[in-house]
Amino acid sequence: MERTPSITSFLARRPLATRYKAPGRINIIGEHTDYNDGFVLPGASHLHLTFAVEPTLSKELQVHACRYAETVTVELEDPTIRMDHWSRYVAAVVHTTRAHDLPLTGLEIIFEGNLPAGAGMSSSSALTCGLIFILNHQCGWQLPVDRLIKLAQESEHRTGVRGGLMDQFAIFSARRQQALLLDCRSLEAQFVSISQEGATWCLVDSGVHHNLLDSPYNQRREACERMVALAARKDPAIRALRDLNLQTLHALAPEATPEDLAMARHVVTENDRVLQMVQALQEEDWAVAGALLLQSHQSLRDDYRVSCIELDFLVDSLMALPGVFGARLMGAGFGGSVLFLTEPERFTDIQTTIQSTYQQQFNRTCDVYCIELDDGVQIIDHQQNVVINE
Ligand code: GLA
Repeated sequence: MERTPSITSFLARRPLATRYKAPGRINIIGEHTDYNDGFVLPGASHLHLTFAVEPTLSKELQVHACRYAETVTVELEDPTIRMDHWSRYVAAVVHTTRAHDLPLTGLEIIFEGNLPAGAGMSSSSALTCGLIFILNHQCGWQLPVDRLIKLAQESEHRTGVRGGLMDQFAIFSARRQQALLLDCRSLEAQFVSISQEGATWCLVDSGVHHNLLDSPYNQRREACERMVALAARKDPAIRALRDLNLQTLHALAPEATPEDLAMARHVVTENDRVLQMVQALQEEDWAVAGALLLQSHQSLRDDYRVSCIELDFLVDSLMALPGVFGARLMGAGFGGSVLFLTEPERFTDIQTTIQSTYQQQFNRTCDVYCIELDDGVQIIDHQQNVVINE
């Protein structure tokens, strides 16, 4: 079998191949609110996947993953999903397109990138959204972005995780140096400028890498649904946790389990924090922004119960360092990354300290980096990395 090529060797042999870029997702605040019709404030990271694609005459997608040094071939007519393998996202995308009667042509695709897998930055959505964007371009679908977002989400659901829409929305629609305030009920989005002055957004990748399929993500979602069903018995106008406030939630206390009640409380309070964060960012009030991050972490840890010892340790250690405004786990939880906001000039000291403290505590390394908010998925021009907005 041919060894998996690199993108460079692939392009050397196929100079007319088209290149694409799909970023990872970061989320300033608003965790586990998207599937509750709530608010989120994500953006796209500068860490991304790069794809190179060329049409073939076959009836298959041949996909090379440089990261895993593996090639898979997925039949367009009969895609088989291997649940324990990265290729499930490729097969799931083919299933979805077939379910929607969208035309497919044979393609050879190679991808690589600096986006870490399992770090809470939605590398799976970057792959899925990247593939949907590529198929839209290569197979002449010409679908609007809102349909592509939904197709990507549907594909990911086929892999077993009932995620919300935040990751796909951010990966398709994000803009450089901006976060995106998304109302997950109306799908209205508003861009919020992220100032580069005075404070820097950074990440620590704990190296505890989760697979959401094995994690209790879907169970959290079911708890939310139970609470909505309970609330709707009292008021049929209630369709999602978005429609509750602390008072209406309190009224459900006698009928709900303490665990379900706490999970719903996280969602209700987190929605509020998203809106407060937008104001703090607009006012460049870093102390308030930092306090909101920490409150979010505490709520995810105690009420939603999606943290783990490594993430709690990182948040506590960061909060003890001078210059750190706030920190919280980012993404679904159960591992992944901690997001923190710091005075820019402190970053290097923080990086060194956190890496050595983490090493001493858990005998493992962690990556610490600053985030640049970038544009969403896009085509990269053949010659000189010039981006064409499509
Ligand atoms: C994952 C899901 C998102 C969202 C986050 C938690 O990233 O894909 O839809 O629910 O977890 O905020």
